[in-house]
Amino acid sequence: MRNNKPAFVLVTAVAIAIVGAGLSIFFNRFIDLTGGVGDTTPVPKATVLPPAAPRLEKTATVTYAPPSPRDAPAEIREAVLLGANILAETGKYASRYVGNKLSCTNCHFKAGITQGGKNGGLSLVGVGASYPQFRKRQNYAVDLVTRTNDCFKRSMNGRPLPEESKEMTAIVTYYQWISKGLPVYAEIPWLGLKHLKSSHVPDKAKGRQVFDAKCAVCHGKNGEGTSAAPPLWGDTSFNDGAGMRKPANLAAFARFNMPLGNPDLSDEDALDVAEYIAAQPRPHFSGRQ
Ligand code: HEC
Ligand code: HEC
Repeated sequence: MRNNKPAFVLVTAVAIAIVGAGLSIFFNRFIDLTGGVGDTTPVPKATVLPPAAPRLEKTATVTYAPPSPRDAPAEIREAVLLGANILAETGKYASRYVGNKLSCTNCHFKAGITQGGKNGGLSLVGVGASYPQFRKRQNYAVDLVTRTNDCFKRSMNGRPLPEESKEMTAIVTYYQWISKGLPVYAEIPWLGLKHLKSSHVPDKAKGRQVFDAKCAVCHGKNGEGTSAAPPLWGDTSFNDGAGMRKPANLAAFARFNMPLGNPDLSDEDALDVAEYIAAQPRPHFSGRQ
């Protein structure tokens, strides 16, 4: 019995130490959790970010300086040039996937190599650094293959390109090349359409007058297209699921780009003519994959 006493003291001491350590870990965690960190590691001050910090990258300055497709390195040159050809003459270089008389370049001027804004159409310079991107339509982040096929299915009233096809690889290689040097996920000011701020309520009847006076000479009396300009409605134009079918998009596009070379519409004229064009018959988007 006498010999067991030191052992008993030792066991008790160890037990107290274990319980103490356990309690201290428990309370430590508890304290950290109430601090909103949820981790027992010490919190360096820098991780407590000021509210504006996550946006810093977005304000990084970007410079418009896309390289020419012809200057692409030998290994990707063929793909880049095929991509440029597909965007410029879509019905010729990707005929199986096109269901109308449009080419990408009719909306994405100069095969997308533009700085947007006035007379620039819809730029594609920088898309290679801006995707995958959240899209409400899919309620998920979509990559450039899916985004490009959106335009094939809707703007081109056609079919999606298989992801592994030579044509899709060429288009994506082209995007990457013309986006060279732009920081990934920086805000690129020339991408996308900027909707008009006017609160004008669009008037279709006035829109028809604008169309007859300023658009029909090139796009045809019935929007069917002429040798001077592509169709705006009817069987050979974009379908009713296309981005350009939305009056707000069409108005913004027309305001800064039409009549081609000399865009002079007021916000009100642009909204009226867009309402008129959007109301005309065109192929129905069936949602086919
Ligand atoms: C001087 C001729 C001309 C006039 C006038 C003109 N456009 Fe265009 N438009 C074009 C050409 C050419 C393109 C294709 C540009 C390209 O491929 O680079 C085009 C493209 C478009 C597109 C995108 C492609 C398509 O067919 O859907 C829309 C939308 C459009 N024009 C709307 C209008 C509207 C609205 C007006 C009148 C306010 C108008 N245009 C007046 C020549 C013209
Ligand atoms: C009738 C006009 C039209 C045609 C033709 C068209 N697009 Fe588009 N495209 C749009 C519109 C409108 C948007 C949406 C712009 C926005 O979100 O502000 C868009 C967006 C895109 C985007 C995403 C751009 C971004 O800034 O995120 C890509 C990539 C694209 N198109 C590729 C193509 C390709 C490739 C073709 C040809 C196969 C094509 N488009 C044909 C109208 C067109």
